[in-house]
Amino acid sequence: MIERLEKLRSDTLELLSQLRDARALADARTRVLGRKGELTAILRGLKDLSPEDRADVGRVANLVKAELEKKFDQAEQALRDAQEQKRLSVEFVDVTLPGRRFIPGRSHILRRVTDEIINIFAGLGFQLAEGPEVELDYYNFEALNIPRDHPARDMQDTFYFSENVVLRTHTSPVQIRTMEKQQPPVRVICPGKVYRRDADMTHSPMFMQVEGLWVDEGIAFSDLKGILVAFVHEYFGQGVELRFRPSFFPFTEPSAEVDIQCVICGGKGCRTCSFSGWLEILGSGMVDPELYRFVNYDPEKYSGFAFGLGIERVAMLKCGVPDIRTFYENDLRFLNQF
Ligand code: PHE
Repeated sequence: MIERLEKLRSDTLELLSQLRDARALADARTRVLGRKGELTAILRGLKDLSPEDRADVGRVANLVKAELEKKFDQAEQALRDAQEQKRLSVEFVDVTLPGRRFIPGRSHILRRVTDEIINIFAGLGFQLAEGPEVELDYYNFEALNIPRDHPARDMQDTFYFSENVVLRTHTSPVQIRTMEKQQPPVRVICPGKVYRRDADMTHSPMFMQVEGLWVDEGIAFSDLKGILVAFVHEYFGQGVELRFRPSFFPFTEPSAEVDIQCVICGGKGCRTCSFSGWLEILGSGMVDPELYRFVNYDPEKYSGFAFGLGIERVAMLKCGVPDIRTFYENDLRFLNQF
């Protein structure tokens, strides 16, 4: 047994003096000291020896084990040192070269504005909901009380994939999708991209909206007002005035468009607000009970409100941007200002 240990020791030391390769070294270590290694096997065999032999052999085996472990460590370290030396001798570092600058990225201004809006409504108890951008005609129009030949469709001409599949023209279809899935109370906020056949300084064929929907027992127009006033004061400042103008949407009754006091001129009148002192930011109203038929809500029991806020509009006002198209041109000189 002692002889076997001696032989293993000298063989291994001999091998170590020859190995010049990290992989071979690691393999050799496993072969000798590993869980199924030769030395480990000997240590396991100790239990079959007589008590006296066991003490002697055990002592030697442990000495050999400690020595070999140390030798393997040294050999590995020597190999690493040699490699580092070699690398330093061939690699030349020109310390006079200018450094490579690391330019950290960040979120697009529209992403940030969206997050800020979501956060405010989350604070008012709204949950996040989402729907697809490629939408069925049914959700985008039909279930929102806009039948096929309705003139309201003209204002929201869009891109058709087929007769029944469109790029959604607003986030309102998420109202229907949400109500289909759950009974009241629902209180959701639904941000996302929408598409229309529209393009000028204040309109883009692709833009973003945040839809809000709150349906429960006893929700009134005053709740709509309260929530929107809270949002505008939080986002644009406590003193900013709101104006509710009667309007029409097929899916709300009554409906209102909401203007805020022009944040550029403070309501005195300027180019941005066409010298009216007011800027439109959203459409809203009480959910038309007709919609409840499509989603199996009891119109006698529940009432609610909805609104659709234009995210670019809000961002333009908040940041004083006169042309909506600049948001999408990805000119860093523009984007870095925010
Ligand atoms: N979906 C409407 C639009 O895009 C806005 C709106 C949303 C109006 C919810 C009323 C209620 O014009």
